[in-house]
Amino acid sequence: MKKLFAVIGNPIEHSLSPLLQNEAYQLNGIDAHFHAFHVEHECLREAVQGMKALGVQGFIVTVPFKAEIIPYLNVVDADARQMNAVNIVKKIEGKYVGYNYDGKAWLQALLEDMKQPSLSTERILLIGAGGAAQSIYSALSRFKPIDIDIANRTVSKAEQLIAMNPIKRATAIPLEEAERNQSQYDIIVQTTSIGMAPHSEQTPIQLTNVKEGAFVSDIIYNPAETKFLQQARKCGAHTQNGMKMLAFQNALAIEMWTGKKVSNKQMLDSLVKALT
Ligand code: ATR
Repeated sequence: MKKLFAVIGNPIEHSLSPLLQNEAYQLNGIDAHFHAFHVEHECLREAVQGMKALGVQGFIVTVPFKAEIIPYLNVVDADARQMNAVNIVKKIEGKYVGYNYDGKAWLQALLEDMKQPSLSTERILLIGAGGAAQSIYSALSRFKPIDIDIANRTVSKAEQLIAMNPIKRATAIPLEEAERNQSQYDIIVQTTSIGMAPHSEQTPIQLTNVKEGAFVSDIIYNPAETKFLQQARKCGAHTQNGMKMLAFQNALAIEMWTGKKVSNKQMLDSLVKALT
């Protein structure tokens, strides 16, 4: 019988995961089907119980349920618990186990575009302190010598994020300071929803003098080039949008659920095709 996988969120109608996943199953001979479920807040518990009863083998969790889902899972991996956010769930011996692969997917995408296997002494600016920022900070924090400034409108949230997983060189700063010191960074990553369509005119800070050759990443993929990335490109920086991260997340989910390694490139090709 076909295996069943899913994504839950609210809203969910614009999710590209069903298209990406079902195409990957077809291309890789995986006997499975993927479905998107719109879940109302008050029905989250029932939704999880229902998926379990119906034999859903794994699901992706998206906005706004990444934290809310935690009490309804049987087991939560230590990293995901620390971040208080789950984005992938797998059924293992009848139990739903939650993980967070957001940061891992982003890091894979970054290193691939930077054409280097790891990070060492780079100075990094991370903008935002929400769920996505936490996951990215956690992925970055394993490179001990790096130096990270976390800039957020509410500085205390950036401080909390660092306190949860302290590393030697991590500092919480206001957005204004990040804007002033932008030329000091080798990597800048924008993790908030600022600049996402239909508000594509907005940026969290103005980029006017990014270091030439720096790497600027925005996790937004719609529009493909946010105003933030446009400004970075004009400064001579290398830029990356959120498409690779999304494609790699979906590839990681398939590998985790089925043990099959799906090509990241194929996943990205499907995504680019869907978006153009
Ligand atoms: P997610 O889980 O998707 O990362 P989130 O937890 O709601 O989303 O976090 C949103 C991030 O965007 C936060 O860093 C938030 O800043 P605050 O902590 O100060 O709220 C930031 N953000 C959202 N809207 C913003 C705005 N208009 N100006 C500045 N920062 C904003």
